[in-house]
Amino acid sequence: MAAKTNSGNVDRSNLIPFSSRLKEGKALAQDVWSIFAAANLPADCINLGQGYMNFAPPVWVTKAAEEALHSVAPNHYSHPRGRIRLREAIKSFYGPQLNRDLDVESEILVTSGANEGQYSVFTAFLEQGDEVIMFEPFFDQYLPSVTFNGGKPVYVPLHPPTDSKIKSSSNEWTLDIAELRRAITPRTKMIIVNTPHNPVGKVFTKQELEAIASLAEEFNLLYDCLVFDGKEHVRIANLPGMWDRTVTAFAATGWRIGWLIGPASIIQPTLAASTRIVFCSNSPLQEAACHWKFFENQLSEYAERRKVLCDAFDEIGLKYTLPEGSYFVLLDISEVKFPEDYPFPKSVLGRGRDFRSFYCDEHANIGEAYARFAFCKDVDTLKKAVERLRRLKEYM
Ligand SMILES: Cc1ncc(COP(=O)(O)O)c(C=O)c1O
Repeated sequence: MAAKTNSGNVDRSNLIPFSSRLKEGKALAQDVWSIFAAANLPADCINLGQGYMNFAPPVWVTKAAEEALHSVAPNHYSHPRGRIRLREAIKSFYGPQLNRDLDVESEILVTSGANEGQYSVFTAFLEQGDEVIMFEPFFDQYLPSVTFNGGKPVYVPLHPPTDSKIKSSSNEWTLDIAELRRAITPRTKMIIVNTPHNPVGKVFTKQELEAIASLAEEFNLLYDCLVFDGKEHVRIANLPGMWDRTVTAFAATGWRIGWLIGPASIIQPTLAASTRIVFCSNSPLQEAACHWKFFENQLSEYAERRKVLCDAFDEIGLKYTLPEGSYFVLLDISEVKFPEDYPFPKSVLGRGRDFRSFYCDEHANIGEAYARFAFCKDVDTLKKAVERLRRLKEYM
């Protein structure tokens, strides 16, 4: 029965109780991405907090998008598996890396971003109370995606470098395999492996992945992107016995186009879930995504961007983690003292140290020293940002 207000009228603001699942997985908390979205920030703000590119895709890609919008077929539903040209493009890029002749009918699924792909895997495979291990800091969407599907998150932290030197490497964030072993229970269903890791930039080594693989009775989700300094990006699916347990995810984020690659035994049930959740993904942009030359020429550009930012941190004298992969740098801001009266925009007031969002409450202190900087921005923007960041010295 609806509550009565003081004036005796029925309070109509909460007539219909919402589902209790929204009370789990921090789903009701405002997500950091919305808080720090451009719309909430002053116009002259340079946002290095979010990992979006501030430059347009290459012209041949936008041209392909335009052509797709002007033709008939791509403006309708695509097959729930994804448009065949995109599946063929994914096959030719990933097949050699996975040493497989991928079957475009049963081993590749186009999704509405990595998020929807992962959500569909959880829907397809989790039973109520199944446990999903995630390494902290974790990408925040994993948590509600797991709990909405009845899963129970189990957290295993990556341990930050303990040495007090200025620059540490992302591979100094370590996984304690004994701790991981202790976290596994008979209810464990999955381990989410995110490599190169967002936000740490860690590229899990072959040894680490072999140790995880040997513990795995479950399948894993991988996030695939950029690896610097010639560091080898080992695909867990390539380790002995792991193809059948692994689903690899990747995406062109803003377009809400992503894809999953894995054995038919994982992809087919996931297709059933994804078909009922979104039916299919943005069709015209799938056609354009076929023309994306997956990361060609990007490494040197990203290495330059990383250098602009990290040189500035060296100069300021703040500790940071040099990423071996991804486009994020973790800066230790524990020595930065925010003045009480610093004019933070109202929308982000009190959120100066939001890195805690990537940990469970119990482990939040592990990450409280850090802020994440994204360098997927053009060099001029990064240089402008660096000019402003130099002023951090005044607050140390
Ligand atoms: C580790 C990780 N997983 C999942 C996602 C979600 O990807 P998408 O935006 O394609 O849904 C992201 C996006 O940045 C991410 O960094």
